[in-house]
Amino acid sequence: MKKPIWIKHAAQLVTLAQADKKPRSKEAMSELAIIEDGSVWIEDGIIQAVGTTIELEQHYKNRANEAEITDATGHLVTPGLVDPHTHVAYGGSREREFEMRLEGASYMDIMNAGGGIHATTTMTREATEDELFTQTKKRLDSFLAHGVTTVEGKSGYGLDLETELKQLRVMKRLQNEHVIDLIPTFMGAHAVPATYKGKENDYIDVIINEMLPVVAAEKLAVFNDVFCEVGVFTPEQSERILEAGKKYGLIPKIHADEIEPYQGAELAAKVGAISAEHLLKASDEGIAAMASSGTIACLLPATALYLREQAAQGRKMIDEGVAVAISTDCNPGSSPTTSMPLVMNLACISMRLTPAEALTAATYNAACAIQMEAKTGSLEVGKQGDVVLWDISNYQELQYLFGVNHVKVVWKKGVKVVG
Ligand code: NIG
Ligand code: FE
Repeated sequence: MKKPIWIKHAAQLVTLAQADKKPRSKEAMSELAIIEDGSVWIEDGIIQAVGTTIELEQHYKNRANEAEITDATGHLVTPGLVDPHTHVAYGGSREREFEMRLEGASYMDIMNAGGGIHATTTMTREATEDELFTQTKKRLDSFLAHGVTTVEGKSGYGLDLETELKQLRVMKRLQNEHVIDLIPTFMGAHAVPATYKGKENDYIDVIINEMLPVVAAEKLAVFNDVFCEVGVFTPEQSERILEAGKKYGLIPKIHADEIEPYQGAELAAKVGAISAEHLLKASDEGIAAMASSGTIACLLPATALYLREQAAQGRKMIDEGVAVAISTDCNPGSSPTTSMPLVMNLACISMRLTPAEALTAATYNAACAIQMEAKTGSLEVGKQGDVVLWDISNYQELQYLFGVNHVKVVWKKGVKVVG
């Protein structure tokens, strides 16, 4: 039998409890349900009790010496962070493109010239499954070191059946072999492969008739994502791909309105996507449509910064009733980072979220965006013991002291995995 874990005396225990079981927006994004001098008891990987230290001392007075105790005096304790949008399983690296953009090339210029997603596709095709596994595992280790205990990961650097499956199988292996919960998304519609230039609809037929059936039969993905963008997939093509995925039980997600306004937010609401991603150029109508359909806005401020674009209108979205989640978008082109703490800082600085809203967006709402809210994203009885102890004393400091990793200890399912 493993010892119970007892974290005591947290200066601030941010529980995010009493969530109304749906993604939060407006004022609810500021309700962190903080317990001062807080305490959590975890057993068999599951949270058994959350309260003040005095309450738990009373409750567990006959079992106190069974537990492995961590004294969190003076420290902030939060749920493990959740990253609901990454392209973590990729081969190679693209640092030369970073220089090219600084020299004036645009993200789309580079992609249209065969770089960008196409360059990573080539490198991912060339990587063996073991190489891809090792590279991806290293990134997951880095996520964990930054307090992230749950990560979504997309395929989309294969653009052929064999390599899409290779990416998804690597992620499946990592689900078993890495402590992080890795939630897989199929994104065969990340780009039109160079060999299908001018024959985009033929590639869409391949996705629908050849890729989706195998991905579904092997249960390799939960979600189906599309890059709906000028010069990539049109809203009509995106809808066709997402509707086809729905027939296999894959839940739609959309890279929407990232580079150009393209009615992506509107489409997300129309097809019942669980989330729409990026939304830098989302229209007012699109934002209103997402508020009424309950589509989560998954915003990626590190990507906006990295592409030197104006960030999405996070403040407006929350005020208008859209539930906002945030994510790294970890990928080799537009956001090569694994730091959710950095993303929380940027959400405050570039989208004017408050520190409390940014934390909700990186925990509970992020979990909702990948249907993991029953297991993680808040500290509540019955959920997994995914917990971070930070080397600071309150949640405002987490966003205020930026560019530094304040993680001290991470528990995943009640097991200490960092610190
Ligand atoms: O979310 N926009 C499309 N996909 C990724 C970038 C992929 C890449 O550049 O490799 C994104 O930003
Ligand atoms: Fe992305």
